[in-house]
Amino acid sequence: MKLIVAKDYTELSRMAADLVENQILLKPDSRLGTVTGGSPAGMYLELVRRHREEMLDFSEVFVVNTDEYAGLSGDHPQSYRYYLEQRFLEPCGIPGERAAVPRGDAEDLEQECRRYEAFCRKHPADLQILGMGHTGHIGFNEPEDHFPEESHVVSLAPETVAANAEYFGSREQVPTKAVTVGIGTIMRAKKILLLVSGRSKAEITYRFLCGKITPQVPATILRLHPHVTAVIDEDALFAVREREPEWLRIRADIRKE
Ligand code: GLP
Repeated sequence: MKLIVAKDYTELSRMAADLVENQILLKPDSRLGTVTGGSPAGMYLELVRRHREEMLDFSEVFVVNTDEYAGLSGDHPQSYRYYLEQRFLEPCGIPGERAAVPRGDAEDLEQECRRYEAFCRKHPADLQILGMGHTGHIGFNEPEDHFPEESHVVSLAPETVAANAEYFGSREQVPTKAVTVGIGTIMRAKKILLLVSGRSKAEITYRFLCGKITPQVPATILRLHPHVTAVIDEDALFAVREREPEWLRIRADIRKE
């Protein structure tokens, strides 16, 4: 795993946009695995700016999102489909048909998981973009006693519900279940870009980088993938820098301006 230290969220977002841009330049019809949430929001903004001001071309890109809240239709303002359409697809000129998101409002969610699983197996991502939740979740793969391989319905951890309450207005309004791709889909991506930012992620970042590989911290499995770049900002690295400064000095690629 390549670890890049960003001084702050702005730098992290710029670095992430650089890596996505490079991927599209190398392969214009790249399949991008996407996530939503706070971690990639600045990256999407920067990609939109580059599309508008620097003609970064997304016309051949295909997008596959990792997850969706159960019970929300794609036009619900808190759905991940809506997030992607507003912040990335529409402003970058990617038509809705070129983006796959699990259908959270499907009548039969188990069947929707099987459909999405088959789709993802057929079309693995060239670059999977990921954030990491406070529980160490990736996509919505919450801590468990095993790494769930396939797309599945998940019950969200109380910490995850609490972390998303700000977007919904209150904890009660956050769905308690979601559909997510499994760890198999994530690990089949050719390359992975993980973004972690903020002091509230410092403890889980320490466990992710310095703890053992365990399904209790689902993101730790990424350390076994052959092509992962983690861009992590100084706030998120706070605990690692305090407890393992030498490890960080040796492992990290710290960009100088
Ligand atoms: C969310 C999403 C994930 C996201 C993760 C981290 O709830 N399901 O796709 O990557 O949790 O979110 P954030 O970046 O807002 O901390």
